[in-house]
Amino acid sequence: MNKRVYVFDTTLRDGEQTPEVGLTIDDKVQIANQLDRLGVDVIEAGFPISSEGEFLAVKKIAGAKLNSKICGLARAVKGDMDKALDTGVDRVHVFIATSDIHLKHKLKMTREEVYQRAIESVEYLKGHGVEVEFSAEDATRTDLEFLKQVYGEVARVGADYLDIADTVGIMNPEGMAKLVESIKSVSGRSVISVHCHNDFGLATSNTIAGVLAGAGQFHATINGIGERAGNASLEEVVMALEFLYGYKLGINKKLTYETSRLVSRLTGIYVQPNKAIVGDNAFGHGAGIHTHGLIEEPSTYESINPEMVGKKRWLVAGKYAGSHGIKAQLESLGIKPKEEQLKTIVLKVKELGDKGKVVTDTDLVAIASSVIGQVSAEERALSLEEFIVVTGHKVMPTASIKVKFDGKEYVASQMGVGPVDAAMKAIQEVLKDTIKVSLKEYRIDAVTGGSDALAEVTVRVEDANNLQASARTAGPDIVQTSVEAMLEGINKLLLKRKYQA
Ligand code: KIV
Ligand code: ZN
Repeated sequence: MNKRVYVFDTTLRDGEQTPEVGLTIDDKVQIANQLDRLGVDVIEAGFPISSEGEFLAVKKIAGAKLNSKICGLARAVKGDMDKALDTGVDRVHVFIATSDIHLKHKLKMTREEVYQRAIESVEYLKGHGVEVEFSAEDATRTDLEFLKQVYGEVARVGADYLDIADTVGIMNPEGMAKLVESIKSVSGRSVISVHCHNDFGLATSNTIAGVLAGAGQFHATINGIGERAGNASLEEVVMALEFLYGYKLGINKKLTYETSRLVSRLTGIYVQPNKAIVGDNAFGHGAGIHTHGLIEEPSTYESINPEMVGKKRWLVAGKYAGSHGIKAQLESLGIKPKEEQLKTIVLKVKELGDKGKVVTDTDLVAIASSVIGQVSAEERALSLEEFIVVTGHKVMPTASIKVKFDGKEYVASQMGVGPVDAAMKAIQEVLKDTIKVSLKEYRIDAVTGGSDALAEVTVRVEDANNLQASARTAGPDIVQTSVEAMLEGINKLLLKRKYQA
């Protein structure tokens, strides 16, 4: 579709109105530069009357010779409009509420007064040679005939853009389409714009409906930030209009993610992981069936290539992971397990997934390297049958263990200074009449942060003939993982003995 639709970014104005956001002048300039690189048509840089810092920020951005047009917000009052004009912006966005609720409770003005003020404001600004955008605040709750009168008249006196503000986000797509069509009938040469809030999660849909019905401009913010539930999300609207409806908006889409990160970092507003396009999970895949399909052909489970918006696809292992996905993930990390080893790795990943843990790349490397270095099942002479450890306040940590060695079962219990110590001693005790082993070295590392971090245990064991072997295991339970490491070390020792004999 060749119809020109302008992208009006209001991250620095409505976005900054997000509760608790406060940007410095430098932050605003940095974001404006990034929005300019992104290719938005208009940057609403701020609301100059609101503070001296805001005035200076808008002035600085207006003077930065960016390609995007710079706009400043003003109420339909002379002081606001003069302050906005003083910043040197290309466009002033002037607004006044038109709904009866606002007239009665906020403005304390009659419809006639609001109508006159809207016209005079547009005329005043036009007289100063700037582009004028007029917003009827709360347009979507305004009596339609009155709204048409206001828009019709401001269009006649020269407003370049007529913005329909869904201030409290109560529109639905059908309603927005109808409203745009109605305003179109009175808009003359003015371009219609839509400004949608996300109170019902419909801001993106309403914006698209407005554009499809003939709006030539839409307002949006990066990451959808803004008052309350936010504004239409720029990245969602842009991608949907381009990919689902065939519009060409002139946005440098590869900078989408970079821009989202910058805005998130400077505003301190976290992007929800499942947010479309820019969320961390937008191109993350966990289910085995999906990763299998993706490895064959990414379009099986991706609507767009993540690189288009500057993101990367990633695969995560968890209980839904399948061996194809885990194999691919390991290969991308330079690890090529054998078929048997892969099965064990997948099993361990699923065990962790069942415990509610997401297995990161770092976890996976730890699991894989411990599995790859393991003694094979056929060669394992010693195996764990049962194991219990008791610990607590004023309780001496005690471990009991049952192992199978050369087909026979052995049981022992030992106390220790802590549960791991008790377990290590119990293992040494259970084998004392067959192979005397001592623990020469024990190390535990947390692979990732958090109390559910994967623990990596490394042990070095020695027999009575000073023969040594090391083993490393990884798992979420430090006692269990330590027991596995110790038994693995002993199995390696036994193998060494066998091959040396
Ligand atoms: O939501 C709104 O009504 C606004 C106006 C200033 C256009 O942001
Ligand atoms: Zn708004």
